Amino acid sequence: MDTETSVLLDTSFKNDVFQGLTTSPKFLYSKYIYDSEGDKLFREIMNLKEYYLTDCEFEIFQLHKQEISEYFKTTDGGFDLIELGAGDGKKTKILLNYFQELGIDFTYKPIDISENALAGLEKDLNEILPNLEVEPEKGEYFEVLSRLKDYNKRKKVIMVLGSNMGNLLHLKAIEFLIQLKDSMSEDDLLFMGLDQKKEPQIILDAYNDSQGVTEAFNKNLLARINREMDANFQLDQFKHWEVYDPESGTAKSYLVSTAAQTVNIPALNLEVKFDIWETIHTEISQKYDDATVEWLAEESGLKVETSFTDSKNYFKNYIFRKK
Ligand code: AVJ
Repeated sequence: MDTETSVLLDTSFKNDVFQGLTTSPKFLYSKYIYDSEGDKLFREIMNLKEYYLTDCEFEIFQLHKQEISEYFKTTDGGFDLIELGAGDGKKTKILLNYFQELGIDFTYKPIDISENALAGLEKDLNEILPNLEVEPEKGEYFEVLSRLKDYNKRKKVIMVLGSNMGNLLHLKAIEFLIQLKDSMSEDDLLFMGLDQKKEPQIILDAYNDSQGVTEAFNKNLLARINREMDANFQLDQFKHWEVYDPESGTAKSYLVSTAAQTVNIPALNLEVKFDIWETIHTEISQKYDDATVEWLAEESGLKVETSFTDSKNYFKNYIFRKK
C-alpha cells in the first residue's frame, strides 16, 4: 500500500474493505453489514418465517423463564445483566419483564455496535418498563470486553443471544470466550444462545429466503461501500449464494460476480477487477451440537452448567460458568 493510499484509509471499515478486496479469494467482514439500512434489513430477517432462530429463542424464554431466573438471581445483592449485541432486544424483553414482575433487583446494560439500535431500545424500554435501570453502551465486543473486567460491583450475567457468536470461526470464538471468562468472577454466568445442527435444508432456507431479504442484507455490504466510499458496485451483477456443510456445521454466505467487471472505489483510490464467477465471502453462521459446545467451553476455561431448548430442538441457550 503506498502512502497516498494509506492516508485515505482513516477508518477500520476502509482498511478492511481495502484488505478484503485486494486479496484472493476476496472477502468482506459481516460486521460491516450493520449500518442503519443493515439494521433495518436484519429486523426484517428476524420476522421471516424461514429465519427460525428468533422464534425458537423466543419460545425458549417463554418456556423456561422461571428456571432461567433461578440461575440468574441472588439471595442478597441482585445482579447486573450485560447483553452483547443487544440489537432491538425483542427476545430479551420477555426476560426483563419477567424479572421485574418477580421484583428482582437488577440493572440492564445493552451493548451494541449500532448506535441506532441502542437508542431505539432505550426509548422502547423506558416506555414499557419505566422502572428498569438501563445503561446502554456502544462498542464492539472485544473492545467493550476489556472494559467489563472492572465491572464487578456484584454478580453479573453476560448474555450473547441469537447465535451471534456463530459469526466467528471456532478459533476466534475461543478467543472471544476466553476474554469473556477473564472478565468473569466465580459467581458470574455466561448465557449464550447457539443455533443447532439440524435438517440441512432448513438451515439453507433460513439464509436464502424466498423474498430476497437475506440477499439484500448480504448485498448491503456493497451498497454501503457505494454510499460511504462513492463506489459503483452494480448490485444486480452479484448473486447471493449460500452453502451449508452439515459435517462442520458451517453456513457460508457469498456474493458471486455474474460477469467480468471492474468496480471503482474512489475513497480507497482503488479499482477492483472481478472475473466472471469470482466470489466475495461475506459471512459465516456456525451451527453447533453439544459436543462442539463442550469442546469450546473446555478450550476456554468454562464449563456448561445447563442448557434450555425449544420444542423442535432447533436452538439452545447454554449457561456457562468459570471452570
Ligand atoms: C445475527 C449473526 C446471528 O448469522 O444468523 C441473518 C446474521 N445473516 N441472516 C446469523 C444473519 C443472515 C445472524 N446473526
